[in-house]
Amino acid sequence: MNILGICGSLRKGSFNRKLLREAVAVLAPDSFAEADLRLPLYDGDLEAAEGIPPEVQALADAIRAADGIIIASPEYNKAYSGVLKNALDWVSRVKGNPWEDKPVAIVSAAAGREGGARGQFALRLALAPFRVRIVPGPEVLVAQAADQFDEEGRLVPESYRKALEGLMTALRREIARSAAG
Ligand SMILES: Cc1cc2nc3c(=O)[nH]c(=O)nc-3n(C[C@H](O)[C@H](O)[C@H](O)COP(=O)(O)O)c2cc1C
Repeated sequence: MNILGICGSLRKGSFNRKLLREAVAVLAPDSFAEADLRLPLYDGDLEAAEGIPPEVQALADAIRAADGIIIASPEYNKAYSGVLKNALDWVSRVKGNPWEDKPVAIVSAAAGREGGARGQFALRLALAPFRVRIVPGPEVLVAQAADQFDEEGRLVPESYRKALEGLMTALRREIARSAAG
């Protein structure tokens, strides 16, 4: 099983990246790579002059090649991050649809009490045009994120770990279903 992780935060100490790593530790795929979202801002003039930037093509290729994808995004002002939106927009300009039928699990960690629920909901809507297979739940919404990870980056509360295990079990099932055609 080949898993691609996408983190909507560029920050080195990102709680969403910690959450993504914890999800991968639970899933234990054969291989894992994290996407690099340090892309140029989408600009139609840049696209017209130079075509699809190589780093965008590389991201699209990684999405296409993955058996499943885990997206961890912070909530910024009740939406998902602009960095992630920029990546979604760029990838939508690549020939073909690398997302088609791809099993996707979404998790979020946020400072607020709802764990980024509205941002996550907005992300689910944003993915709809790409016809992915979003694993519906259990929802993983890590609230007050700064208090939930230990110094090694492990997610501590049992309730969150249970939810993450449930979501990864559902993702594994969806990947198996996809492979069976
Ligand atoms: C521009 C901006 C907007 C934010 N808006 C929200 C928000 O709507 N809800 C929330 O719970 N936290 C919000 N936060 C706090 C983030 O959840 C918090 O900084 C989180 O740790 C960011 O994710 P990261 O640790 O993966 O970088 C916001 C932070 C920034 C920088």
